[in-house]
Amino acid sequence: DSVPPVPAYRIDHIGIAVVSIDDALDVYRALGLSEAHREEVPSQKVRTAFLPVGESRLELLEPTSEDSPVAKFLIRRGPGVHHVCFAVDDLQGALDDLASRGFRLLHRSPVPGADGKQVAFLHPDAGHGLLIELSQAAAEVA
Ligand code: CO
Repeated sequence: DSVPPVPAYRIDHIGIAVVSIDDALDVYRALGLSEAHREEVPSQKVRTAFLPVGESRLELLEPTSEDSPVAKFLIRRGPGVHHVCFAVDDLQGALDDLASRGFRLLHRSPVPGADGKQVAFLHPDAGHGLLIELSQAAAEVA
């Protein structure tokens, strides 16, 4: 009964909190990575830049407002790894399953994320120090 009906099948991206995307890009460019696209995500009050790395990506997160969760993260913990995002095929199903197992969720239903995807975050306390995001490609939303 511990097998989830909606398993995570890939690390979609690793979210990294930065003060300035433009400043942070220097080191990633030096590693041969390049920015695929940049966009604001109003629901998270962040500007994001995605850098493909093989089948996965880095997501640089720069706050657009002082009350952005990422702004608070930068004050509390400084720049660095903010979250890991796992791709699932049925996000609502995964959230329902996690809730039924007693895990705390920040989002009980999917919200619009970057890159045209539907996303949801687990509560920070649920991940033993790691903030966990789940995402589903929008085209797959029923
Ligand atoms: Co993310």
